Amino acid sequence: MKIIIADYLYLDGKFVENHAIAFDTHIQDIDLPERLMEKYPEAERIRAKPYTVLYPGFINTHVHLEFSANKTSLKYGSFMPWLDSVIEHRDDLMKDCDNTMMQKECSDMLRSGITAFGAISSFGTELEVCERSPQRVVFFNELIGSNAQYADMLYGDFLERVKASQHCGAQSRITPAVAIHSPYSVHPVILQKAVALAKQHTMPLSTHFLESQAERAWLENGEGEFKLFFEKFFNTSTPVTTVEEFMHAFDTYPTHFVHCVQATDKELSYLHEKGHSIAHCPRSNRYLGCGRLAIETLNDMDLPFSVATDGLSSNDSLNIFDEFRAALMLHHQAPIVALSNLLIKASTENAAEALRLNSGSLKIGKDADFALITLPELPKRSEEIALWSILHTREVDALYIEGEQYV
Ligand code: BEZ
Ligand code: FE2
Repeated sequence: MKIIIADYLYLDGKFVENHAIAFDTHIQDIDLPERLMEKYPEAERIRAKPYTVLYPGFINTHVHLEFSANKTSLKYGSFMPWLDSVIEHRDDLMKDCDNTMMQKECSDMLRSGITAFGAISSFGTELEVCERSPQRVVFFNELIGSNAQYADMLYGDFLERVKASQHCGAQSRITPAVAIHSPYSVHPVILQKAVALAKQHTMPLSTHFLESQAERAWLENGEGEFKLFFEKFFNTSTPVTTVEEFMHAFDTYPTHFVHCVQATDKELSYLHEKGHSIAHCPRSNRYLGCGRLAIETLNDMDLPFSVATDGLSSNDSLNIFDEFRAALMLHHQAPIVALSNLLIKASTENAAEALRLNSGSLKIGKDADFALITLPELPKRSEEIALWSILHTREVDALYIEGEQYV
């Protein structure tokens, strides 16, 4: 058993002073330090530096490690030119992205306080790195393919990848999971099969949804920039589904919907009604010119969201604190202290719920996954600690997963 004492503990959305946590692989007790020391006299004591805040480990719900080689290849600014550039450079980017590169990105995430992440995998090439990474990885095997002619073949390939992720080494912290690429790129028949599979094995399920204006125009009217794209690459000019039909496919299984920037209030309210949640990727949305997700609407509806970096295919780092700071800028009209608190809750408690992880909050019985951050001085007002944490942290001071220290 170990006892960790920090100036502040993030407990139930508040910053509580003079408390400590007793833990082994899981959180066993939370109380005043002297009480825990009396109760567990043999425990190893860890006294964090002054001005330190103990958070549950942060969870990056959506990242594409396979695209880590991108620096300037992909075209930012607008979604369709970006997607065209993905098609053009995909093979080169995949070739340049080796295990060393992906491992470095996992370790950057680790140093920024990320103890778990959702890895969206198109080809399964990052499985080995994720198996070796100390973090918990929800390994989202992605299904893609709108053309009925190739759908069965692509579904077969997807099933093989799911199986491989179900047979990872005992020391790895991998959870097999299912990702649907998007409404425009997955045929309804294989979509239904994949959702049924996730449900059957209670695997976490996620999908990109209404990321761009172009996606909406295509799904609603078969018009816009996607029309040219599908004519050019797939020789078709009709979408395979509608927004409603796609949403209904997830009705019976809570799913993490990524982006939703172009969803209407009615659609968001439908997602809420069915128990779904949203992954918010502020920098990715800004860099691809997709717009701003109205998180104030989500808040009003009580529709939970997480914060995610997306991949380096649409970002400049996988650091969760960089993402928080970007969110403060993107949502410039939001009251900054309330927004900071919301971002911390989003990337801990909400993210754990969305990825079906037993972490994300400092509660008895939860996994002992912690991120310790040190503030530059004693915070003048404890209600502003989330804001000061976001503004003053690039890397965490210490990080624990399953009770073991990794930073
Ligand atoms: C498709 O299979 O329809 C598709 C694949 C990649 C990007 C867009 C669409
Ligand atoms: Fe993504």
